[in-house]
Amino acid sequence: MSISEQIQNAPAWWSDAVVYQIYPRSFADSNGDGIGDLGGIRSKLGHLQDLGVDVVWLSPIYASPQADNGYDISDYQAIDPLFGTLEEFDALLADMHSRGIKLVMDLVVNHTSDEHAWFVESAASRTSPKRDWYIWRDGYQGREPNLWRSAFSGPAWSKAPLGISGSTGSTSAEFDDDQYYLHLFAAKQPDLNWENPEVRSAVYEMMNWWLDRGVDGFRMDVINFIAKVQEDLVGDSESAAMGPQIHEYLQEMNARVFAGRDADLITVGEMPGVTVEDAKLFTGADRLELDMVFQFEHVGLDHGDSKFTNLKLDLVDLKRSLSRWQTGLAESGWNSLYLGNHDQPRSVSRFGNDGDYRIEAATLLATILHLHRGTPYIYQGDEIGMTNAGFTAIEQYNDIESVNWFAESIAAGDEPDVLLESLRFRSRDNARTPVQWDTSENAGFTSGTPWIGVNPNSTEINVETDRAAGDRSVFEHYKRLIALRHSSAVVALGDFELLEPEHPTLYAFTRSLGSETLLIVGNFSNDRMDAPLLDSSEARNAPVLLSNYAEAAAGATELRPWEVRVLQLH
Ligand code: GLC
Ligand code: CA
Repeated sequence: MSISEQIQNAPAWWSDAVVYQIYPRSFADSNGDGIGDLGGIRSKLGHLQDLGVDVVWLSPIYASPQADNGYDISDYQAIDPLFGTLEEFDALLADMHSRGIKLVMDLVVNHTSDEHAWFVESAASRTSPKRDWYIWRDGYQGREPNLWRSAFSGPAWSKAPLGISGSTGSTSAEFDDDQYYLHLFAAKQPDLNWENPEVRSAVYEMMNWWLDRGVDGFRMDVINFIAKVQEDLVGDSESAAMGPQIHEYLQEMNARVFAGRDADLITVGEMPGVTVEDAKLFTGADRLELDMVFQFEHVGLDHGDSKFTNLKLDLVDLKRSLSRWQTGLAESGWNSLYLGNHDQPRSVSRFGNDGDYRIEAATLLATILHLHRGTPYIYQGDEIGMTNAGFTAIEQYNDIESVNWFAESIAAGDEPDVLLESLRFRSRDNARTPVQWDTSENAGFTSGTPWIGVNPNSTEINVETDRAAGDRSVFEHYKRLIALRHSSAVVALGDFELLEPEHPTLYAFTRSLGSETLLIVGNFSNDRMDAPLLDSSEARNAPVLLSNYAEAAAGATELRPWEVRVLQLH
């Protein structure tokens, strides 16, 4: 093999990296206004360094009216005063780099805020030079151009008052005859028109500006939505499909933003609805599109007709789905691994047990996930096993998706209690309550009034208590998982093979590389369980690399509730 072939075949730097997601408004508040900020993040970098993560993905901190907590951006090159200043940002970035942590920014370019100068100009008149930067259409047969629905309820089209900034204008203002603009999310989040090369250039320029400032890559919000199928935009089409130009756009972005930069960058595209076959194209190393994608299959399994049906884990489905992705991207492409983020309920509440076995379940889930092949993402608070919010009244919710869905369902005649029960399982706010740092009032998150309620279990579940819990510390367990990935090539790169796929409560698989094989077994239940696959002499004699019970019980074929073991088979 020539040197250049060797370099080409060398695993990417991020194949043994672990990413930690910060949702800034809920992380730590430094100035007492009840909202997390850059100063708060800076004050907690020791926590992240102790944990050992390599990369932080920071959810949006840009100037924003905050209709969707910053996923509605009015200026891509300014920090929202809620979070701090550009100087503070630079200082944060420098601090992170000096601790060996990279910073990945959230890139939200499917849409902007309706208060972004581009949209204000676009909405001003049909002849505005920026008219075509967004997606405007005449109505179709007296209604919206097509039947697409906004992810946050209601039609995906709105009319903008002439010469007035989007939905902030009064509805009695003069309308721009029959033109509507597209918003796959809230009316305050108009979709950019990626068909327009000026739009693409403006986005690339902005990305280059951030990379020149020193950031280490981007997590790209709903990036597969940027390509619309033009014929579908008018008529009876009901669901927004991913247009075929998506690959061209990503390759162009790669060429105009990432190519030729020598830094170790990372790109991850959030892609609802993406299939394994798509992902192979998006992440194949030779295609120069993205390093990895967030797929949604395993977090969509439990959705019935409504996206708010209560979640019930079917372990067989979960295993089937995740292992299909493991196998599908084994030869080419790369997986990102996650069980939760700011859009999902808390993973321990959803997939595990947030009561008597909370610590066991949280550490088991982490172990299963981190022992898969791919790049693991830890959502803030998961490293101490934080749980769902447990809100009981609609007034406690803030999330635009939850609030709009509740209002729409009430208007359709649904029962409030049933809806609240669904939100208790499913709402995005479950993962957005403040990080619980200590036992003090407001969990040490803020000295003021938090923007959203602190989980009442913060006196029991918090960073300070967890880190002092020795063998029962979720944080310590995460630390071991991260260290294991850093030190073990088989964890980072080994082949994955699922065992006993039909077993309803056992999650078992091997990872192998060269002569080395790990066996991972987990009991997804509140009961003791016999695992005959632990009965071979090989398994009985295998050293336990990691387990979530204090007495490792090496050699035993019985698994205790939510017990997980990583065995070094050979
Ligand atoms: C992504 C974000 C989510 C946001 C949506 C619209 O799914 O993760 O929080 O609401 O895009 O930007
Ligand atoms: Ca603050």
